[in-house]
Amino acid sequence: MEAKHRLEMKRISIEFPGVKALDNVNFNVKSGEIHALVGANGAGKSTLMKILGGAYGHYVGDIFFDGTKVDIRNPHDAKELGIDVVYQEVDIALIPYLSVAENIMLDKMANEMKGKHFIRWGNIHRSAREILKQVGIDLDTHTLVQDLSLAEKQMVLIARALATNTNFLVLDEPTAPLSQTETEELFRLMRDLAENQDVGVVFISHRLPEIFEVCETITILRDGQVVADATIDDMTQQKLVELMLGRRFEETYPKIRVPIGDVIFEVKNLIEEAGRVRNVSFSVRSGEIVGMTGLVGAGKTELCKTLFGAYPIKSGEVLLHGKSLTMRSPHAAVSQGVALVPEERRKEGILVDEPVFINLTLPSLDKFTRGPDFVNTRAERTIARQVIDELGIVTPSADQKVAYLSGGNQQKVAVGKWLIADAEIYIFDEPTKGVDVGAKRDIFELIGKLAKQGKGIIYASSEIPEILDISDRIYVMYDYAIVKEFETAEATEEEILFYSAGGQ
Ligand SMILES: Nc1ncnc2c1ncn2[C@@H]1O[C@H](COP(=O)(O)OP(=O)(O)OP(=O)(O)O)[C@@H](O)[C@H]1O
Ligand SMILES: [Mg+2]
Repeated sequence: MEAKHRLEMKRISIEFPGVKALDNVNFNVKSGEIHALVGANGAGKSTLMKILGGAYGHYVGDIFFDGTKVDIRNPHDAKELGIDVVYQEVDIALIPYLSVAENIMLDKMANEMKGKHFIRWGNIHRSAREILKQVGIDLDTHTLVQDLSLAEKQMVLIARALATNTNFLVLDEPTAPLSQTETEELFRLMRDLAENQDVGVVFISHRLPEIFEVCETITILRDGQVVADATIDDMTQQKLVELMLGRRFEETYPKIRVPIGDVIFEVKNLIEEAGRVRNVSFSVRSGEIVGMTGLVGAGKTELCKTLFGAYPIKSGEVLLHGKSLTMRSPHAAVSQGVALVPEERRKEGILVDEPVFINLTLPSLDKFTRGPDFVNTRAERTIARQVIDELGIVTPSADQKVAYLSGGNQQKVAVGKWLIADAEIYIFDEPTKGVDVGAKRDIFELIGKLAKQGKGIIYASSEIPEILDISDRIYVMYDYAIVKEFETAEATEEEILFYSAGGQ
C-alpha cells in the first residue's frame, strides 16, 4: 500500500521587502520517508522550512498535515502538531548560559511546570541523558552550552527536538559541522525515526553524496520555485546539480597553477597557553596554497585562531617576511597583514545587523576614510557591489541587512570582506561549509586569484578531496599538532586519512 502524505504544502508563496523568496511551491512528504530538499544558496530551502516551523506567519498557500488542513502561523502551532525544525543557525537556537540538560528539556520543563513549583533536577538530567544516548553522543548534561563545539550544539538541538513527541523532523544542514562518524550516527538516527517511528524527515544538505546515501525522495528548488520532484533512483548527481543551478556544470575544479616564490610566513614551535596548539611549526610561500587538514576536532580552528591573535601564545614565533609578529589581538593581526575567515561566521565573521556593504568594507575601512570622520560611503558601496557580483552574493542590494541573507550567502560575505582588505596571509577556516557547489567554485577561483597576486594562503578543512583539489602542499593535524607534511601531488586520500586518525 502506498504510504499517505504526512505533509502537503500547497502553492506556498512568501515575500520579503525586495525579495520573492518562494513562488507557488508545492512540497509533499510521506510519513516514514527521508526527503531531501536541495537548491543553491538563496533558493528558498530554509524559508520553506521556517514557514513549516511557524517562524513566518505571512505566507500564502495551504498546509495539510495527515490530510487535515492546518494553520501554522507561529512556532506554537507547529509544536502542537509535533513538527520540529532544527534551524541552520545553531548558535541562536540554544541558550548559551544554560546546561545541556536544561536546553534539551526546555520545552518539556515548560509544559510540566504548569501549576507546579519545583523541578526534579535528577529527573531532568536522567531524561536528557537517555535522549543523548538515543542520539548517540556522549556528553555531560551539566556542561554549559556555551562551552560546546559546533557539532555538539547541533546534536543538542536534535536531542531537544526528540525530547517532545516528534511526528515530523526537519534538519536544515545538520551535517555541516559534523565529523564523518557523527554524520553516520545522525543518519542512523534519522533512519530509525523514519522506519520505526513513522516520522517524516526532511534533510537539507549541500553535500550531494549524503543526499544519495540517506534520502529516498528529493525536491529541488531554484529561485523560489520547484524545478524537480523525484525519487532518488531517478536522479544522478550531475542531473541534480544542473537542475539546481539551471546550467551545465563541471564538477572538478581545475587548479590554477601559479609560480610559487620564497617563504613569506613562518611559524616556529608555536605553543598556545591552554595547550590548544602543541609545538606547531610550518611555513607558507608566496603564491602557495597550504592545506591544513585533519579530522573535526584535530585543532585546525584553534591553530587558525591563534595565528590570528585570538588565543594567547605561550611560546614560539610567527614571522611575516622574516619579521616577528606581535600577536596580541585580532586587531594587531589585521594591521600586520593577517586575515582570517572564521568557521563560526555568524558569531565571529560578520555583523548580522549591519548592511552587506558595511560588512564587506569593514576590515578595509581606512581605504574609505578621509580625515578623521569622513567615510566615503559611495565608494564603499561601489566596491561592495563589485564583490557582490564577483562572488554571486544573492541580495536585493548592497544595503540589505546581512541577517536577511541565506546561510550560504552570509558565508560569501564573510569571505568577500577580505578580498577588499589587502592582507599578506589569508587564513580560511572551512570556507566552503554551507555553500552550494557553484559558489564553492567561485570561492576556489577567488583563492586562486589571491595566490596569483603572490599572497600566502592557509586553507583549513576536514574535507580531504577539497584539500587535494586546491592546495599545493598539505599538513595533517592530529591532537593539536602537525603530524605529517605532503606535497599535494604525492598525497592520496587514504594516506591523509591514515595520519588524520593518528596513524604513524
Ligand atoms: N527574513 C528575511 N528578510 C528578507 N529576505 C529574506 C529573509 N529570509 C530569507 N530571505 C531571502 O529569501 C531568499 C531565500 O533564502 P533562504 O534562506 O530560504 O535560502 P536557502 O535555500 O536556505 O539558502 P542556503 O543554502 O544559503 O542556506 C534569499 O534571497 C534570502 O536573502
Ligand atoms: Mg538555508
